Amino acid sequence: MEELQKLILTQGEVVNEEIIKVDSFINHQVDPTLMEKVGKKFAEQFKDRKITKVATIESSGIAPALMTAKELDVPLIILKKEPSRYLNSNLYQTEVYSFTHQKNYELTVSQKYISENDHILLIDDFLADGEAAIGAIRLFHKAHATVAGVGVLINKEFQPGEKKLNEQGIDVVSLVKIKSLKDKTIVFD
Ligand code: G4P
Ligand code: NA
Ligand code: NA
Repeated sequence: MEELQKLILTQGEVVNEEIIKVDSFINHQVDPTLMEKVGKKFAEQFKDRKITKVATIESSGIAPALMTAKELDVPLIILKKEPSRYLNSNLYQTEVYSFTHQKNYELTVSQKYISENDHILLIDDFLADGEAAIGAIRLFHKAHATVAGVGVLINKEFQPGEKKLNEQGIDVVSLVKIKSLKDKTIVFD
């Protein structure tokens, strides 16, 4: 997606060889017009896949996921992050390790909102190590739901997320792929 590449080039800040800040249009301030276009793109890619629900992980995935859900005319499910596991028989829960934050958290969703009748599209802002996406898919499988695919705005290809998802037979649609952030330089695929 050329427009997203342009925003990344003009407004993105390379923090180090692995992290790029995109606070001015994705993570802190959000560009609604961009998100609307992103939603249309994902919806176009997945329109024939009989999606019943779009899901995302709080919080930065919510804007693009909501626009995608609106475009596909299905509900949005927000998976929540909790610091630790607690006893609650109404929740599906799974532990996820975040490489970026170097700690574990519990990804949770109410059993009310996902069932075996669901075919779910997961949308997120970044794909990095893929542990968050793989955790989300574990939750969907606990509910006996199926996964239509994963859509991300920015896929950091030099990290193993897409490979891990593909190994599980999950399709990944990336609007932008970043090959390298070395030498403070953004290299797209
Ligand atoms: P994973 O999803 O691939 O397993 O990676 P990880 O857990 O390490 O990612 C943790 C958080 O860092 C996620 O957001 C993810 O979107 C974000 N992230 C990963 N790489 C980058 C990057 O290069 N730039 C930016 N800006 N963010 C990155 P979060 O902190 O868990 O939540 P939220 O921002 O959605 O609230
Ligand atoms: Na995120
Ligand atoms: Na983030």
